[in-house]
Formats: sequence, C-alpha cells, structure tokens
Amino acid sequence: MTRLRNRHLLLGITGGIAAYKSCELVRRLQDHGMSVQVVMTEAATRFVSAMTFQALSGRPVYTDAWDPRVANHMPHIDLSREADGILVAPASADFMARLAQGQANDLLTTLCLAREVPLWIAPAMNRQMWQHPATQENVARLRSHGVTLWGPGQGSQACGEIGDGRMLEPAELIDHLQAALADNTVVLNYPEHDPEASVSALRVPLRGLLDGRRVVITAGPTFEPIDPVRGITNRSSGKMGFALAEAAVAAGAEVTLVAGPVSLATPQGLRRVDVTTAQDMSDAVQSSLPLSPRDVFIGVAAVADWRPAQVHDGKIKKDQGGGLDTVRWVENPDILATVGHRPADQRPFTVGFAAETGTEEGLLNLLGPKRSRKGADLLIGNLATDTFGKDLARLVLFDGSHTQVLPTNTKAAQAHQLILAIADALRKEEG
Ligand code: C5P
Repeated sequence: MTRLRNRHLLLGITGGIAAYKSCELVRRLQDHGMSVQVVMTEAATRFVSAMTFQALSGRPVYTDAWDPRVANHMPHIDLSREADGILVAPASADFMARLAQGQANDLLTTLCLAREVPLWIAPAMNRQMWQHPATQENVARLRSHGVTLWGPGQGSQACGEIGDGRMLEPAELIDHLQAALADNTVVLNYPEHDPEASVSALRVPLRGLLDGRRVVITAGPTFEPIDPVRGITNRSSGKMGFALAEAAVAAGAEVTLVAGPVSLATPQGLRRVDVTTAQDMSDAVQSSLPLSPRDVFIGVAAVADWRPAQVHDGKIKKDQGGGLDTVRWVENPDILATVGHRPADQRPFTVGFAAETGTEEGLLNLLGPKRSRKGADLLIGNLATDTFGKDLARLVLFDGSHTQVLPTNTKAAQAHQLILAIADALRKEEG
C-alpha cells in the first residue's frame, strides 16, 4: 500500500553527480501517485539540466529566487506551503554547510529556512568530504535544527573510491518517504483496560516529535554458539523492539535497528543491522556511537548474559566425555550499562527494559536499583509471563521519581505511547 498517493513533495536538487539518480526518483514517485515540484541549485543544473526534470515532473522547475513566474514574487514561501515535505536529494557538502549556517543565498536554502514542513536530506559526496570534521559539525548542527538525514549509504562512489557518502537509491528514499508520511494512527484493539487514558494518548500524532534525532534500538534475542550445532539463547520475538523502531521512524527520527536472530520483516525507513551474538550486538551499537544528549538509545534486546569462553570447532559428542558440563562461561558486555554510563556530552537519552518473572510487586521493587545500575533515564518493566511471544504487553515506566502503568495493549500501541513519553522527557530536559 502506498502512502504517497495524492501527496505533494518539494524535491530539492543540489550540485552532485548523484543528481542523475533523482531523475529516476521523480519517475518512481509519480508511479506512487505523488506530485513533485523540483527546485534546483545553480550547481545542480551543471549535472542535469532543468529541462530534464521539467519533462519528467511535468512542472516548471525553479532555480531562481527572483523567478518572475511566481505572481507574488515569493516562491520561497509558496512552493513549500503546498508540500507535505521537502526532500533534498542529493544534498551536497556545500548545500549542507549553507543550510547549517542559516544562509538564504539561493532559492533552495531560502525555501528550507522558511519551511513549516519536515525537511529530509539525502547527502551525497566523496567519503573524505563526508568524514571531514567541518561536514560532521554541520550534520550535528542540522540535526539540532530538526533536519532528518537519510543516508548516506556505503559503497563504491562515482569518483572510484569506496566508503560512506553514496546517496541512497531511489527505492530506499521512497521507503523512507512512505514511513515518514505514514498517518501513524494506532488501532486500539484492547480498549477494555483504562480505555480513556489509552485512547487520548493514541490520538496524539507522532509526526515531527523526534525530527533530527537519532534513535538506536536493540531488539530480539542473541544466540551464543557452543559448537556448530548448539548454542544458548533467550526467548524474545523482537516484536516490541520492532514496534518501537517503527514508531520512532513515524516520529521523524533516523533509526538504526540492531536485531538479533528474529523472523520479522524490516519496517520501512530505517537502517537494520542483523547480528547473532551479544558481542556482535555490542560492536554494532558501539559503531553507532557517540550519540549526543539529543539522541536516544533503547535497549529492548534480550541479551544472553553469558557465552562459552570458547566455541568448539566440532560437535561435542555425548559418548566421548568432556560434554556440555565442561563448557566454561564468560560474561557478555552489558550493552545498556555501557551506553548509560558514557560521559554526559556523549550519552543519549537511555531507555532499558526489565523483563521479570514473579510478581508485579517484585517487579516494582526491582525497577529503582536496576535503573541506577544500568545508568538508564527510563526503565520499562514487564512481567515475562505476560508478554513473551505475544502481541500484547502491559508495561510499567519508571523514570527515577514517577511510576506510570501502561495497561495491556498491542505492542504497536505501547510503542506509540513510549515514543510519546520519550519525546516528552526530552522536551522537558531541554527546557
Ligand atoms: O540485567 P537485565 O538483563 O535484566 O537487563 C535488561 C536490560 O538490559 C534490557 O534493556 C537489555 O536490553 C539490557 N541488556 C544489555 N546487555 C546485556 C544484558 C542486558 O543491553 N548484556
């Protein structure tokens, strides 16, 4: 199902060779029923002519802030007011620098500055330009202004080098758009528990709440091999983590989902990293750091606490002695605690989960100490017996001073409310 039908996009094109991919992007967006107004920088017209985009989009292309075709001479206002969002693809290093500085020295930067709609940018540049501290400072600044980055991807570049900086493919950008333009209403399947509280929270739309923020989520179990045929794991379907990832995308965040072995489809509009062991999961999270205090880490994964010190090359035989009782176990890194105890300026808003067996009272008593041990801002408790493998969850949120219960509901509905709670906490923290 396409969410793009009858929606309108303002597509900005800046000076980079990846502009050729944007021709295809315009065609595919139209296949989805979306109308596209193209605005180009002067440099972009050196790579692909305005005539090409005019023919593809069926609309005049604007490049000039002084364009006499706009009756009131205010293209920088009018063009973005009618759009559902602005996507700049490709976004060059120079364009990002000008945008980060708040410059309005051509039509596209002026439009972006005067916008009231979401702004998504798809960077495209040589890997050294992308990694340059000046570009990275601009990226951080843009995110802090609520701009959401899609990509860049990794791979071979037009310049012949290999690395980060490739513009995402048209199909990937369309996935991001589909997710960003989702209407994100959640169907409330189980309203019998406290219907009023849930219904009113779910009516609050997520769109825009996490614009320009990065969210890293771990989900599912880990699997620790003992030998080529055996291993230990935890019970976890990954459904809660995936639901949270989807809700974070709907709220406008740039989401990385680090997933253990699960059989769940990848939600649209995010980067998924598949891992097997706790060490792999820890490495994947480490490589997404540092995150700033504006960003969010949510550890939902059921990480195996121990792994065999050594993985046997061959299958351990039952009848040859030295069986499983000889396996020596070592402790895995605590991913959540590592993130939660980072220095303040490199520490994201940190959220953990505590799945416990036993009684609700036992769970409540444990939330405080576990929250401190993990360095989490918010700890979410659930009773394992209530939730494992099911589509429903009953959650208890503890932020160090208040406890809030989210009555039994679908995991999609709970994820929606958790993202609202996280956005609210960030807003309060930032004043
Ligand atoms: O200590 P416990 O396993 O109960 O803590 C659960 C929380 O800690 C979850 O958020 C889980 O994702 C996280 N965790 C982790 N790394 C571990 C163990 C747990 O990130 N090695």
